Amino acid sequence: MAAAAAAAGRARRGARLSAVALLALLLALLALLAGRGGEGQPGSPPPPPLPLPPGLREELRQRRRDLRRLAAGGGGEATGGLGCGDLRLATGVSLLGWGFTKLHGQCYDNSGDAEIRVTAMLELGSPLEMIQLLQTPWEERFKICLSLVKLLFYLAHSPLGSIALLDFQPRQFVMVDGNLKVTDMDDASTEELSCKEDNDCTLDFPTKSFPLQCSAAGKCKGINEKKNLFNAYRYFFTYLLPHSAPPALQPFLSDILNATGDLRYGINETLKAFEKVLHLYKSGLYLQKRPLLLKDYISLKGFRTVEGEDYKCWPSYSHLGCLLSVHSAEEAAAICNSQSQCQSFIITQQRTWTGRPLASFQSSLTDLIPDANAVVYIKRSASSGKRL
Ligand SMILES: Nc1ncnc2c1ncn2[C@@H]1O[C@H](COP(=O)(O)OP(=O)(O)OP(=O)(O)O)[C@@H](O)[C@H]1O
Ligand SMILES: *[C@@H]1O[C@H](CO)[C@@H](O)[C@H](O)[C@H]1NC(C)=O
Ligand SMILES: *[C@@H]1O[C@H](CO)[C@@H](O)[C@H](O)[C@H]1NC(C)=O
Repeated sequence: MAAAAAAAGRARRGARLSAVALLALLLALLALLAGRGGEGQPGSPPPPPLPLPPGLREELRQRRRDLRRLAAGGGGEATGGLGCGDLRLATGVSLLGWGFTKLHGQCYDNSGDAEIRVTAMLELGSPLEMIQLLQTPWEERFKICLSLVKLLFYLAHSPLGSIALLDFQPRQFVMVDGNLKVTDMDDASTEELSCKEDNDCTLDFPTKSFPLQCSAAGKCKGINEKKNLFNAYRYFFTYLLPHSAPPALQPFLSDILNATGDLRYGINETLKAFEKVLHLYKSGLYLQKRPLLLKDYISLKGFRTVEGEDYKCWPSYSHLGCLLSVHSAEEAAAICNSQSQCQSFIITQQRTWTGRPLASFQSSLTDLIPDANAVVYIKRSASSGKRL
């Protein structure tokens, strides 16, 4: 059994390396496609990728560099390992909604060896794909970062003590309903590093080192929490948080990036900062002090437009047209004003995870159909000269 476990371990490491190589190749191919822009062939089944803003292309380049670095390093670090007893303790977690406690788990008892190891805990999700994530709306990327922060908050205060995730490769995470979950808890350690003096407690990363303190108990206190947080910063926040965020939220996001990148914030402050951004976003407070533009629109109550293919925008929630999350009809009017093709919009019944409605923007006014609950907003400049 022990031999089988060791062989499985070796196989796993091999699988990890080749998976990283594959992912890197895929990223390269996708980036190439994205670089070509949105010249898709009409009629081909998968919708053409939308053109990426130039800022994202640079992100992708950096992402590929990181992946190459990861592949070269093999990503292997020694692990303290979690036992089945630990897992039993961890069942409370499921109440928080984290994926790693599904007890599709398997425990193997290596008799003779006192050690019992958890080998697998799985919940079906889709592996994290950075390229796809970079093309999703900011709101969805923020959700992923927030779920990572909540996960790290849980890990920092878990009944097992502070847990460090040893492997921060994106493929260690899967998405379930847009939330981030960890796939492999065997890649986690509850041990805080032992030390004799402060010098033993340097937290080293390729680009940066952080000196930490050795506690009276001979442990590098907080090292696991800090390690997780800096990894979250360098693998997730820097890629996912800033791009195409609402401008008024940018200063708050820059602050989060700066504070986690310098480990000025602990996980508690980080979570607080994320929740503040979420509050500002949900409440629409970030929209204050804007010119009112809805007055430039005629509202037709009791009608909606026919759904069909229309002009595309980035980052649309639908491949068929321009479908964006908005706080209100007022914000939708501002968006419609900023897009030359836009002649009208409707606020749909669909909601995003923050509760914001999706607005559908259209370039033509051809078909209006009666719908008691709907309102069509039409640009006044568009309606002039037309009979309404
Ligand atoms: N719960 C899950 N849902 C969907 N896909 C998953 C899930 N868990 C893992 N995967 C995907 O399956 C592939 C294999 O992952 P898995 O964790 O089983 O590898 P492994 O052999 O255990 O290697 P390692 O321990 O190095 O991660 C990865 O691409 C991963 O993203
Ligand atoms: C944070 O901001 C300070 C001051 O502007 C700067 O010196 C530092 O490099 C920034 N750190 C990060 C990680 O961005
Ligand atoms: C962080 O929050 C947890 C849970 O609310 C609390 O127990 C802990 O003392 C806080 N830590 C710090 C450093 O504030």
